[in-house]
Amino acid sequence: MAEKKLKDWIKPEVLAQPAYRVKSPGHQIKLNQNESPWDWPIDFKQKVLKRLLETPWNRYPDLIPNRLKKKLSELIDVSPQQIVVGKGSNEVLQALATVILRPGDEVCILAPTFAVYRMLGEQRSAVITESVLDKEFRVDEEDLLRKSQRAKLTIIPNPNTPTGTLLPLELIDKMAAGADGVIVVDEAYVDFSGVTALSLLENHPNLVITRTFSKAFALAGFRMGYAVMAADLAPEVQKGLLPFNMDIPSLLTAEILLDHAEWVQTRAGQIRKERDRLIARLNDLPGITAWPSHSNFFLLETPFGPEKTFDFLLSRGILVRDVSGYPGCENMVRITVGTPEENDILCWAIEEML
Ligand SMILES: Cc1ncc(COP(=O)(O)O)c(C=O)c1O
Repeated sequence: MAEKKLKDWIKPEVLAQPAYRVKSPGHQIKLNQNESPWDWPIDFKQKVLKRLLETPWNRYPDLIPNRLKKKLSELIDVSPQQIVVGKGSNEVLQALATVILRPGDEVCILAPTFAVYRMLGEQRSAVITESVLDKEFRVDEEDLLRKSQRAKLTIIPNPNTPTGTLLPLELIDKMAAGADGVIVVDEAYVDFSGVTALSLLENHPNLVITRTFSKAFALAGFRMGYAVMAADLAPEVQKGLLPFNMDIPSLLTAEILLDHAEWVQTRAGQIRKERDRLIARLNDLPGITAWPSHSNFFLLETPFGPEKTFDFLLSRGILVRDVSGYPGCENMVRITVGTPEENDILCWAIEEML
């Protein structure tokens, strides 16, 4: 009976979807969600708390967070009118899907890629078109160009997750030039690749770039992201967000954090160095493949398969991501780069497993 009602109430596309899940059993070292391994220093947190104590909690935040938008615009050298702020980049992606997609529209994504894009498209009864990466996780450029030209909305993370693949800017330029629809480049991991499509914005009114504070900016707990696009598109995307979507603590924290952007860049540099050290060291081990990556994570193959690898590392207190459900990743786990000490412990655990 209950099932019959669910079928009546809930869209079939939603009923057919698996819920987004992240396994989070007990662990000492967390390498499963591509977060920064370093929390913000205590004096930074005290500054935020002081400002929060001075701010009234009984009043709504600003309807449009203009102070934050101004600081962001200075950081990335665009106009504040080009920026839309959301609770994580997930919320700005959701707003884009809401204002763009009609049932039956095509959404072009990579395979494998970030699972949320498919979720957003399917929930709006869009048709998902995948451009499948090859066995080496390279993009078939012709295929992606063809599929993105037809699509109403194309969403490409650059670098991609879970593979760490980086698309060349020339390809993004061609995609935006050839598409009738909107091309979204999700730059969640841009601080680890150093490659941004921001310079392409002025030539392409259909290009949108999304960014997050959850990775290099070490603020996953506060839910902060934004999108950059043409100044006449931004107010339309803003309509896809509910009024007062941003809360005062997240806005205040992000504003103060932007005065310390050098901390972010130093930490991102350390992560890039650690990533390269870790991948090289693991590839020296017999039977291990650590895939090259432009991000703060990489794919790992061991002779034991993903499930046993996940369980063994967990038994040593290390939580990684089992990505074996992603196409092309059937034999893999994904590992976030941690602190140097955490990375050493990971290497020792893998040596012990072998
Ligand atoms: C490619 C990509 N985009 C977006 C997000 C979500 O970021 P946010 O925390 O800003 O919602 C993630 C999170 O893992 C991601 O991997």
